[in-house]
Amino acid sequence: MVVFSRKLLWLIICAELLVAAQQHILKQGDFINSSTTLVSPNQLFALGFFHLADSNLSYLGIWYTNSSEGLNVNHPAWIANRDTPIYNSSGVLTIDSTTGNLIISHSDANNPIVLYSGRGLNRRLLLWDNGNLVLKEGNTTLWQSFDHPTDALLPGMKLGINHNTNWTWSLTSWIGADNPASGAFTLEWDHTEKMLVIKFRGKTYWTSGKLINKNFEYIRPKVEFINLNYNFKIISNEDEEYFAYILMVDPVLTPESRRYLSGWRLDYQGNIFDEDRPQIAGVDNCYGYNTRSKPPHTFYAGCKLWEQPTCRDHLQYEIQTGYFENNVSYLNDSNTSLGYTDCKVKCWEDCNCYGFMNNGDTGCIFYRGSNLKFHSSGNYPKIYVLPPAKRKKLITMIVIVIVSLFLGLLSSLLYYQRRKNKQAKKTEIQELLTLKGYSDSINTMGDDCRNDLKFFSFTSIVAATRNFSSDNKLGEGGFGPVYKGEFLDGQEIAVKRLSRKSTQGLTELKTELILIAKLQHTNLVRLLGCCIHRQEKMLIYEYMPNKSLDSFLFNESKREQLTWERRFSIIEGIAQGLLYLHKYSRLIIIHRDLKAANILLDQHMNPKISDFGLARIFKLNAAEINTSRVVGTHGYMAPEYVMEGIYSMKSDVYSFGVLILEILSGRKINSFNHVDGPLNLVAFAWELWNRDAAFELMDPSISNSCIKHQFLRCVHLGLLCVEGNAVDRPTMINLVSMLRNDTAVIPLPTRPAFCTGGKAHEKQSHDTRPSINISLNRLSISTMEAR
Ligand SMILES: *[C@@H]1O[C@H](CO)[C@@H](O)[C@H](O)[C@H]1NC(C)=O
Ligand SMILES: *[C@@H]1O[C@H](CO)[C@@H](O)[C@H](O)[C@H]1NC(C)=O
Ligand SMILES: *[C@@H]1O[C@H](CO)[C@@H](O)[C@H](O)[C@H]1NC(C)=O
Ligand SMILES: *[C@@H]1O[C@H](CO)[C@@H](O)[C@H](O)[C@H]1NC(C)=O
Ligand SMILES: *[C@@H]1O[C@H](CO)[C@@H](O)[C@H](O)[C@H]1NC(C)=O
Ligand SMILES: *[C@@H]1O[C@H](CO)[C@@H](O)[C@H](O)[C@H]1NC(C)=O
Ligand SMILES: *[C@@H]1O[C@H](CO)[C@@H](O)[C@H](O)[C@H]1NC(C)=O
Ligand SMILES: *[C@@H]1O[C@H](CO)[C@@H](O)[C@H](O)[C@H]1NC(C)=O
Ligand SMILES: *[C@@H]1O[C@H](CO)[C@@H](O)[C@H](O)[C@H]1NC(C)=O
Repeated sequence: MVVFSRKLLWLIICAELLVAAQQHILKQGDFINSSTTLVSPNQLFALGFFHLADSNLSYLGIWYTNSSEGLNVNHPAWIANRDTPIYNSSGVLTIDSTTGNLIISHSDANNPIVLYSGRGLNRRLLLWDNGNLVLKEGNTTLWQSFDHPTDALLPGMKLGINHNTNWTWSLTSWIGADNPASGAFTLEWDHTEKMLVIKFRGKTYWTSGKLINKNFEYIRPKVEFINLNYNFKIISNEDEEYFAYILMVDPVLTPESRRYLSGWRLDYQGNIFDEDRPQIAGVDNCYGYNTRSKPPHTFYAGCKLWEQPTCRDHLQYEIQTGYFENNVSYLNDSNTSLGYTDCKVKCWEDCNCYGFMNNGDTGCIFYRGSNLKFHSSGNYPKIYVLPPAKRKKLITMIVIVIVSLFLGLLSSLLYYQRRKNKQAKKTEIQELLTLKGYSDSINTMGDDCRNDLKFFSFTSIVAATRNFSSDNKLGEGGFGPVYKGEFLDGQEIAVKRLSRKSTQGLTELKTELILIAKLQHTNLVRLLGCCIHRQEKMLIYEYMPNKSLDSFLFNESKREQLTWERRFSIIEGIAQGLLYLHKYSRLIIIHRDLKAANILLDQHMNPKISDFGLARIFKLNAAEINTSRVVGTHGYMAPEYVMEGIYSMKSDVYSFGVLILEILSGRKINSFNHVDGPLNLVAFAWELWNRDAAFELMDPSISNSCIKHQFLRCVHLGLLCVEGNAVDRPTMINLVSMLRNDTAVIPLPTRPAFCTGGKAHEKQSHDTRPSINISLNRLSISTMEAR
C-alpha cells in the first residue's frame, strides 16, 4: 500500500516535471515544430511557429499569449527569421544534439537557419516571462533574443550600444502591414544626445527630445490614459550605453488591473504603438518642412527639418478613393523592398508625381503626368494624392518677378482688405457660437442645453483617427465614411466625414449644426462637435462600442444576446427617441432614414438613433449626394413617400413599424426572395396575423425569453405603423403610451401597404425623380415651432 502510493507520487512528480519542461525549457536534442510551443513560466509569452493570414510562409516568433491588439500571434514581439521565411509548416527549432547549435531546420534541409553556432553540451533554451528567449550552457548565457530585436521593444529590452563588442541594439520595422521582412524604419538610441531617434533608411525623421521630468518631450506619456507610466532608464558607462523602460503601475490599482501588457512596436509607417493604446510617437506626418512641436504630444511633435523639393511647398498627402481623370502615366514599381514610406518619399521627390498607391505591402504605383485631375469616387482603391506640382519654368518665373514688382503695392492693399474680412468672419462665427438668436428659446426646452457645439481642430481629428487609417474605419454611411477616433485624454469618438458635395454655405451649415447639437436625449447619439477644414466637413459623435442594431439582429452568433427583454427595451428606446425628435425637440426633426443600421447600441445595449438631422444639414438636396440613402432606404419607406413623395412624421412611423417587425423576427425587411412567397416582411407579418399565427413571426432565439402578450402587442403595434394610409397610423405619442400600458385599447390594424399592389411598387421606389425632391423640400423641412 505504502509502496504503491509512493510510486504514484513519483509518477505525479515526474509528470509535472515533464510538463514544466515542455512548457518553458527546451533541452539539447529536443525540438519544437509547428504544432508545439514553449510557454513562459506564468504563461505570459509563447514561442512557436506562426503563419500570417493567407500565407504559406511561416516564421518562428514570441508573442504575448493574452494581447488583443498588440504583440499577439498576429504580430509577434520577436521573429527569428523575418527575412528568411519557411515554407509549408516544415520548420523545426532545435538545439542540435551533437553540435549544440541553435537552428531552425526546414524543407530545404541543406540550408538550416542558424541562430547560434558554437560547440557545446547540456545546453538549454528558456523562455522567460519578460519575453526573453535565452540559450544557456551551465550558468553562461550564450545567446538571447533580447540581443536581436525585430520591431518591438519589451520592458527591459535595451536600445543602444555595447562598447566591448560594438553590438548595437535597435528596432527595424516591418516592410508592410502584413509583411515582417526588414523595412525602412529603425528606432535607435542616440547615446551622445541621449534621445531616441526614428530613421527612415538611415535618415533621421524624428527624435524624442530630451528626458525632462521623467518624460521625453515628444513621447506621449502613458499616464494620460491610465494609472501607470513609463519608467525610463538611461544607462551610460564604459561598457554600454543604452535606453530601456519598465512600467510603473499605480499601487492603488487592483492586482488584476495591474497586469498591463506593454511593448513598443515600430510599425511599417514609422509610428510607435504600445499594445492597444493610441500612438505614442511617430513620423507619418513628418514631411520635412513640418517641425511644429508645440504644444508637445501633437501629431508633428519631434519631426525633423530637411530640404524640400521646391514643388512641394507645405503640401500634404490626402488619402482619397477615386481615379485620375485624364491621361496618366502609371509607373508600376514592383520592387519588393519598397514599402509604404518608400513610395511616399519617391513620389514626394518627383515633381511630376501626383499620387501613389501601396496598399500596405511592397511595391508602388505612381501616378505621374502633367495637369492631372483627381476624381473622387467611393468604389475605387485608396490613393495617396498630392495637389499639382508647381511648374518651374524660367520664363514664367521672370514674368512673375516683373509682375510681382508691379503688384507689390496692390498686394499690400489686398492684405489690409483681407485682414478686414477675416476680422468680420471671426466675429460672425463668434456670434453664431454665442447663439444670441437662439439661446433664449432653446433654454426653455427644459433639457440640459449647456453643451454647445464644439469646433475641433483638423489636426486633433487627424491624430485621433490616426490619419483616417483604414483600421479605424467603422463603416460607410449614406453621407460618407465613419471613423473611430480617440483623443489624447482617452475619450473615444466617432467621426463622420461628410461627402464633399454639400453645397450648403458654411454659415448655414454651422447654424444647422448648432441647432442639432442642442438636441439631447438618451436615445439619440450625441453630437459632440464638428470640424470644418477647407473642403472637409466632419461631425464628431460619441462612440458607441456595440455598433449598430443590425450587427446584432442579423448576425447568427450575436442575435442570441438580444433577449426579449432587451429587444423590448430597444423598441421602447427608439420610440422615445423618435417621440423626442417629432414632438419635444421643438425642431420637429423628421429622420427620413430610420433603419436598423441607424440604431446604435451603447455598452448597456441602450438604443441611440443616429444620423438624425443630417437630412437637415443637407437640405434634402437628394440629387446632390448619394441619392438612394438620402431619400431613404428601400423597404423602410412609406408608400406615400415612394409614390407621391409626400413625407411627414407618419413616414417615420412607417419605418419604425418595419423596424419593430425586424426586431421581433430577426429578419430583414427584404429577405424574402421566393417568387411565390410573401413579398416582404410586412406582407409576411400581415399574413401570419390574419391566420392567428403571429407567434410564427418570432425569432427562434427569443423563444425562451419571450413574454407572449408583450410580443403580440408589438406585432399588433408594428402592423398599425405600417398601415397603407398614413392618417391611420398612430402618432409616436400614442405608440409610446400603447407600448407601456398593457391595458390600453389598440385599434385593429388594416391591410398594410405593399400587400395590395404587388411587386410593381418596388420598381417605382428605386426611382427618385426630381419632382419627388421638390415636394420633399416643401413638406419636410423642419421648422422652429414656438410653444
Ligand atoms: C510535431 O511533433 C510531434 C511530436 O513528435 C508530431 O506528433 C507531430 O506530427 C509534429 N508536427 C508536425 C507538423 O510535424
Ligand atoms: C489570460 O486571459 C485569461 C482569460 O482572460 C486569464 O484567465 C489568464 O489568467 C490570462 N493569462 C495571463 C498570463 O494573463
Ligand atoms: C499554400 O498552401 C495551400 C494549401 O494549404 C496549397 O494549396 C498551395 O499550393 C500552397 N502555396 C504555395 C505557394 O506553396
Ligand atoms: C510546399 O508545398 C507545395 C505544394 O503543397 C509544393 O509545391 C512545394 O514544393 C513545397 N515547398 C517546399 C519548399 O517544400
Ligand atoms: C554557477 O552557479 C552556481 C550556483 O549558483 C555557482 O556555484 C557556480 O559558481 C556558477 N558557475 C559559474 C561558472 O559561474
Ligand atoms: C569597435 O569599433 C571601433 C571603431 O569602429 C573599433 O576601433 C574597435 O576596435 C571595435 N571594437 C571591437 C571589439 O570590435
Ligand atoms: C495616354 O497618352 C498616350 C500617348 O500620349 C496614349 O498612348 C495612351 O493611350 C493614353 N492613355 C489614355 C488612358 O488615354
Ligand atoms: C504591377 O506589376 C506587377 C508585376 O509586374 C503586376 O503583378 C501588377 O499587376 C501590376 N499592377 C498594376 C496595377 O499594373
Ligand atoms: C529595390 O529598392 C531598393 C531600395 O530602394 C534598392 O536598393 C534596389 O536597388 C531596388 N531593386 C531594384 C531591382 O530596382
